[in-house]
Amino acid sequence: KTKPVNVRVTTMDAELEFSFRGNTKGRQLLEQVVRTIGLREIWYFGLQFVDNRGLVSWLAEDKKVTEQNVKNETPLQFKFRVQYYPEDVDEELIQDITRKLFFLQVKDHILSDEIYCPPETAVLLASYAVQAKYGEYNKSVHRRGYLSSERLLPKRVLDQHKLSKEQWEDRIQVWHEEHKTMLKEDAIIEYLKIAQDLEMYGVTYFEIRNKKGTELWLGVDALGINIYPKDDRLTPKIGFPWNEIGNVSFDTKKFIIKPIDKKSPPIMFHGTQPRIHKSIMQLAKGNHILYTRRRMADNIEVQQMKAQAKQERLQKKMERINRETYKCLIKVITELKKRLDNRDQLELMMKLYEFEETTKRAERGGAHHVTHKLSKYEPGSENVPKKAARLEAERMEAIIAKEELARQAEEQMKSQEQLAAELAEYTAKITELEEAKRAKEEEAETWHMKAEEVEQSLLRTKEELQSVRTPYNESDHEHSEENSTYSAELHSQDIGEDHLEEDRLTEAEKNERLRKQLMDLSSDLEQSRHDSKNTQNDLLHAENVRVGRDKYKTLRQIRLGNTKQRVDEFEAL
Ligand SMILES: *[C@@H]1O[C@H](CO)[C@@H](O)[C@H](O)[C@H]1NC(C)=O
Ligand SMILES: *[C@@H]1O[C@H](CO)[C@@H](O)[C@H](O)[C@H]1NC(C)=O
Ligand SMILES: *[C@@H]1O[C@H](CO)[C@@H](O)[C@H](O)[C@H]1NC(C)=O
Ligand SMILES: *[C@@H]1O[C@H](CO)[C@@H](O)[C@H](O)[C@H]1NC(C)=O
Repeated sequence: KTKPVNVRVTTMDAELEFSFRGNTKGRQLLEQVVRTIGLREIWYFGLQFVDNRGLVSWLAEDKKVTEQNVKNETPLQFKFRVQYYPEDVDEELIQDITRKLFFLQVKDHILSDEIYCPPETAVLLASYAVQAKYGEYNKSVHRRGYLSSERLLPKRVLDQHKLSKEQWEDRIQVWHEEHKTMLKEDAIIEYLKIAQDLEMYGVTYFEIRNKKGTELWLGVDALGINIYPKDDRLTPKIGFPWNEIGNVSFDTKKFIIKPIDKKSPPIMFHGTQPRIHKSIMQLAKGNHILYTRRRMADNIEVQQMKAQAKQERLQKKMERINRETYKCLIKVITELKKRLDNRDQLELMMKLYEFEETTKRAERGGAHHVTHKLSKYEPGSENVPKKAARLEAERMEAIIAKEELARQAEEQMKSQEQLAAELAEYTAKITELEEAKRAKEEEAETWHMKAEEVEQSLLRTKEELQSVRTPYNESDHEHSEENSTYSAELHSQDIGEDHLEEDRLTEAEKNERLRKQLMDLSSDLEQSRHDSKNTQNDLLHAENVRVGRDKYKTLRQIRLGNTKQRVDEFEAL
């Protein structure tokens, strides 16, 4: 019999308490946490703790919690944190809760300057964070000072500019207003899409020395391992993608990475402390598994989650459009009512009755076949086409209301300009609704196709589910005796050699508007900058911008040549 152990786990936005039996393994504790918070994308997360020597570690999944030297406290303390990063947040992170936890953690890293973020990007990101918290900007609610108690920018950025709290708020507010009705969930993903282009995002750094004894940084991330000079953690100099690496092993003295290419010598280095070898190994194995898995077809569970998340996002968007349409219509009808005498009110009642009939007809008719197809897969899903139909009905209502307004206005000899302005407003609204509706219908159709694909592969690959549940089944040969060698083989045979990540564009490059916003803001901030307060990272970043480097272009450059050439280069540093 073992005594129950109490633990406290803090996530980025909650605190949980559990108790478990002494023989519980790391994996079981992690599973209990994700079940409690309703998260399914467990593979990105881990439990971080401080060990009895005061060093930060990740809980190993296959070992008992009580055998991992967690600092002896009651309850035991763990932090539930992102341990592995995806290559592309928008493509890979599925559930809203996963995205939110990533957002909170990355934001925290940016504000604390753990990830270097240039000032203009920091202001843009702050405006998305504000949108994610406050929703649509509303002048009457969000009065001057509404951000005064928010932690919005890294201290470095605040110190480097001669701007008051109010002046910062003004800059962030302008962009908050520009995000308009963007959903909070969309603001979160926009934040992450920009943040993932930052050079230090998603990299875990370790201090190492090569054989010659040169001090360097080893950066481990989703795409491979990179070597950085000691004075520059923004710009790696040599890179090895995961599919070039066949075997990793370590003992207390050295860490050895054996490339798949037999012609290449191993990459050998040692950490400044022997115990970091274990952390490097753990991160290398985990990242390698995810790298490989991403390059094979999505398994069935992931496909289903993606389809479901897509449908949920679609519905939220539809609801928002409906709310806006409703607001617009209420305005029209209120306006009309003001101008109608009793005789006309009767007429309006008739019109409203007609609108209702139109709505019902549209629901029964046009969109019916979509309803049928969708409901076959998801009993509750009639909502998608139903809302497309309602959108159509509301569009018609707006058209009729517009005509009505025109007639009334004419009768009442409204001024030409006023009439023109109001008509223009309704016309614009109608066009917008038409476009939104068309887009929604297309989305519904795509969703339907996706659902069909999922059903197909469900029949084909039921047993795949089993392997998803046990993803950390790498064949590794670990021994627990002191001073022995630990090694793991990394299987890369099944995946191709494509390195699409090297051709990737940053969000700013893809998005003209974003690029322009960043440039404008950059020159605005330039005016109030204390140049004397530039940090080493500011200078390194400025140099990268000057020569046209970004994260992905650098990656291509540091992987040139064959593995052997790059290993030789590493030894020569
Ligand atoms: C702004 O907030 C006020 C007060 O809550 C509300 O009456 C108004 O409708 C809001 N405006 C918009 C555009 O949502
Ligand atoms: C990896 O290392 C293990 C243990 O040292 C060894 O048995 C295995 O053959 C190695 N594999 C490769 C591909 O080098
Ligand atoms: C997982 O482990 C089982 C049993 O130990 C083994 O048969 C299977 O091949 C392993 N799968 C992978 C992907 O290594
Ligand atoms: C492990 O290595 C250290 C130093 O290299 C040595 O003092 C110690 O005796 C070794 N322990 C075992 C069990 O071999």
